Amino acid sequence: MKAVRTHGRGGPEQIFFEDAPLPEVRSGDVLVQVRATGITPAELTWDETYQNADGTPRIPGIPGHEISGIVERMADDVTDFRIGDEVYGLADFPRDGAAAEFAAVRAVNLALKPRGIPHTQAAALPLSALTAWQALFEHAHLAAGQNVLVHGGAGGVGSLAVQLARWRGARVLATASSRDMAFVQSLGADVVIDYHATPFDHPATPFEDTLRDIDLVLDTIGGETRRLSWRVLRKGGVLVTLVSPIPTGEAEQNGARGIFFIVSGNRGQLDQISALVEGGNLRPVIAEVFPLSRAREAFEYGRGNHAPGKIVLQVAS
Ligand SMILES: NC(=O)c1ccc[n+]([C@@H]2O[C@H](COP(=O)([O-])OP(=O)(O)OC[C@H]3O[C@@H](n4cnc5c(N)ncnc54)[C@H](OP(=O)(O)O)[C@@H]3O)[C@@H](O)[C@H]2O)c1
Repeated sequence: MKAVRTHGRGGPEQIFFEDAPLPEVRSGDVLVQVRATGITPAELTWDETYQNADGTPRIPGIPGHEISGIVERMADDVTDFRIGDEVYGLADFPRDGAAAEFAAVRAVNLALKPRGIPHTQAAALPLSALTAWQALFEHAHLAAGQNVLVHGGAGGVGSLAVQLARWRGARVLATASSRDMAFVQSLGADVVIDYHATPFDHPATPFEDTLRDIDLVLDTIGGETRRLSWRVLRKGGVLVTLVSPIPTGEAEQNGARGIFFIVSGNRGQLDQISALVEGGNLRPVIAEVFPLSRAREAFEYGRGNHAPGKIVLQVAS
């Protein structure tokens, strides 16, 4: 098959479009004929991109963990799907991904693809929508009427988190660059703050000087953004960060709860996400679609200030 493979740790320069063996179909797997895969620019920095679950090296390895495609065949112990079903889902991180003509994915991490949208749009959902769902609803138990601040509201995760929080009935505040503020408002944010604003930019002011009594901060940025976010939380509020573990004691010192987690595949949640898409309550946001053969360019594009949403590789039309 044709595939995109990383030849070593590094950046897009390590990515090659080439021939590769078909993936091994293990117990519990579905072999999917890939139509499109969503990429996360940061995945080239993850250990799992270069290692198997037992720590042994996996080089060359195939990136792209969001998959949308067609069931080609199933392991003998899988009865959940039929050949030809249109599915989407999250491929495990310490295994080869979906930037290829075929990918083997655990059946439990796949669901029927939302009807009415093309594979290129469905492929923009699994990692980002599951991450947003698990952060808001599973970890932080967001309730209607609460105030939630989504950092990076125009990003792959943020653009879906804004929509999901709005759907849940929360008051949604978000940070974004000035270019994307109107777009994030169109997704359902009540207030959008320019993340480039400084204390000298009156009337625009930084989020940490503007906001107070926030129930939940969803941090997709990390670093200084996470550290400043404690100030805007109410006592006992929750900060969920996606980027790195929170240093011990930092949340407690600020009278809040702090959570870092890694997204996991979940068919039940994918089914709920599909229903929201089909009902017009959630829409994937696509920054750009590249053909599989131009994956290196796609990762390079992801390094810069790209358009809102996800970068998708189209494998076949
Ligand atoms: N833990 C997990 O399970 C998990 C799951 C998914 C993703 N992640 C991580 O979450 C992070 C975000 O992923 P993503 O796919 O959403 O990335 P992304 O699509 O690149 O989005 C990042 C967004 O943040 C904006 N931004 C940059 N600096 C900012 C700042 N200081 N304040 C507010 N917004 C800022 C960017 O806008 P501009 O382009 O205009 O600068 C962009 O719109 C990555 O580090 C990724 O690895 C973790």
